[in-house]
Amino acid sequence: MTGALAIRDGVTYHPGYLSAPEQGDLVIALRAVLREAPFFTPRMPRTGKPFSVRMSNCGELGWVSDERGYRYQPAHPETGQPWPAMPKRLLQAWQELAPASPVPEACLINFYDTSARMGLHQDRDEDDLVTPVVSLSLGDTAVFRIGGTSRRDPTTSLKLASGDALVFGGPARLAFHGIDRVLAGSSTLLHEPPLAGGRINLTLRRVTRATVEN
Ligand code: SIN
Ligand code: FE2
Repeated sequence: MTGALAIRDGVTYHPGYLSAPEQGDLVIALRAVLREAPFFTPRMPRTGKPFSVRMSNCGELGWVSDERGYRYQPAHPETGQPWPAMPKRLLQAWQELAPASPVPEACLINFYDTSARMGLHQDRDEDDLVTPVVSLSLGDTAVFRIGGTSRRDPTTSLKLASGDALVFGGPARLAFHGIDRVLAGSSTLLHEPPLAGGRINLTLRRVTRATVEN
């Protein structure tokens, strides 16, 4: 692990957190996850407008969105099957980057093709809004933007490259953040469908409030 950089209060950037071989191994593990839990296209609450990002999940709970709203659920919205287990390297990342936090329950897998983006939003569908969010990037570099807890707060932009990790917690747990754009062709990591070009972001989260046992 290389050095960590404080980006804003509560936001820590770990450039090159995953080595090239670790990134390759993680992509292999994610391909197995995606065979069991294929990407789905989430839709906006009420309007049903499709997201430009495709999604899947691993772990006990997965984040989904459709006309009925945003929520976590234990099964894939299209196959009805439980989400696959989290690859071990993700659990290790959690232990290293969010030490002393209760175990993560959800890992959202976002896939951005080179035209996808994600508008500024807060991660606030969790009952636990104390445990940090750990995010890992693979594939093409993205321009990420993070601000404060009000949509009007000034934002900071940074480029998230393949292997980079970002942790937001404490005063930044409810910070607004999003992806402005993906820099096409900036990585060669993803070269076979369903991961061909573009970018993967993995977001690990605690969802339920932990009891003392876990
Ligand atoms: C997200 O906020 O769900 C994704 C952020 C990212 O893609 O880096
Ligand atoms: Fe988010």
